[in-house]
Amino acid sequence: MAQSLTSQGAQLGPLPEEDHCIKSYSEGQDFRVSPYLQNPDMDGMTILWLSETSEPGSVDVAGVGSFASSPELAKDLAYHANEIANHFNGNDPGTPYQHRVRVSGLSAGTSYNYTVQQGSSSYTGTLKTTPERNTDIRFIVYADSETEPESTGKTRRCSEPYGNFDRQYWLDQTEGYAINIQTMKLRNPDFIAVAGDIVESGNEQRDWDEFWQHNAGRFNDIGAGIPIFPAVGNHENHSGGDGGGGFYTTPLAKDALARYRSYFETPDNGSGKPEHQDRYYRVDYGPITYITIDGTNGNPNQSNQDTNWYLHGEGETSIDNPEWGEGEAPDFNPGSRQYQWLEAQLADAQKRSRFTFVQFHHVPYSVGPHGFNPGEGGQSNAEDKQSGVPMRVLTPLFKQYGVDAVFAGHDEMYEHSLVDGIHFFDV
Ligand SMILES: [Fe+2]
Ligand SMILES: [Fe+2]
Repeated sequence: MAQSLTSQGAQLGPLPEEDHCIKSYSEGQDFRVSPYLQNPDMDGMTILWLSETSEPGSVDVAGVGSFASSPELAKDLAYHANEIANHFNGNDPGTPYQHRVRVSGLSAGTSYNYTVQQGSSSYTGTLKTTPERNTDIRFIVYADSETEPESTGKTRRCSEPYGNFDRQYWLDQTEGYAINIQTMKLRNPDFIAVAGDIVESGNEQRDWDEFWQHNAGRFNDIGAGIPIFPAVGNHENHSGGDGGGGFYTTPLAKDALARYRSYFETPDNGSGKPEHQDRYYRVDYGPITYITIDGTNGNPNQSNQDTNWYLHGEGETSIDNPEWGEGEAPDFNPGSRQYQWLEAQLADAQKRSRFTFVQFHHVPYSVGPHGFNPGEGGQSNAEDKQSGVPMRVLTPLFKQYGVDAVFAGHDEMYEHSLVDGIHFFDV
């Protein structure tokens, strides 16, 4: 199907004639989120989906077998009371059921057709296992999708850095993201990594719904064939007004991260802390090692080691609001558990892999506002309360263990810095 997209008089030309058009999702009435892939391995893959009811579903993998699902109420994905009041006329759309099927015993680098049956709905896709080490791969990294249903019809002002924001994007954010995903699908990557700020407000369930509408829903089904490797950004810690209105309060940040962890499944990081699962992890994929770090809050709070002065991290409490309890974002500074884990992974990856890549959200080197030093003086004093500069503490490790490139976001512009032989990107 060829489409021409026209927005505010700008003719953008036809989309490709292939199977990459925005899907109509009439087949998916029983799916809240249609099937998507996570946690690829050389002999397995996890297939997840969300249904409206508690009825078990099934996965049939061609040539392998059939697997029943054991649905669980996805209690962390309940709508916040503010959302129900402000967007659903007080009628809760309900909490979905999550289905998670691990398919194992597969062969490396092999494609398998699979069909998920849920109620009277079915979905057929193709999964591909992780290939052997001596195999070419392709991956795509982006960041700051910041999805929310309110994006439809909204275009952003834009400028050169520190300019007058005197230009307006042609496309609204929904159409722009949809076209980006279509383009990614055309490039047929083995996996897609998202370096944080996946959703606009981490504790607004509607914002997560919107992300999955683009990745396993009515706009596109890219997640059904291409696994997504996520990273936590500041927005995943941010409640949003309809998610409790608490900005970066500790309890709402925990609720927001529980939503994030519900959707994603990544290799165990060995921390022994369930609240840190999926926040930092390592994936070996063909010839590369791809490491994800959570740099959303360094300890101590409001110091040169902190990337978010509003948020309290692991073991920290608010002086003004002690009832919030301790924060849970893992510290990344030397001596922390995450830092020690990172060093061990980098040392091992240097021996194992031809290339090592690292992703996290806060770009360490940037000409944008988050490239200013941490401080509360504001942009006019070249200070920023959500600075990426503290992440530079990791650069010596990257140099020592031969990291090839680091992918980050947060300043929301394309930028490439070469520092100590390491390629740093704001994607
Ligand atoms: Fe962002
Ligand atoms: Fe950010």
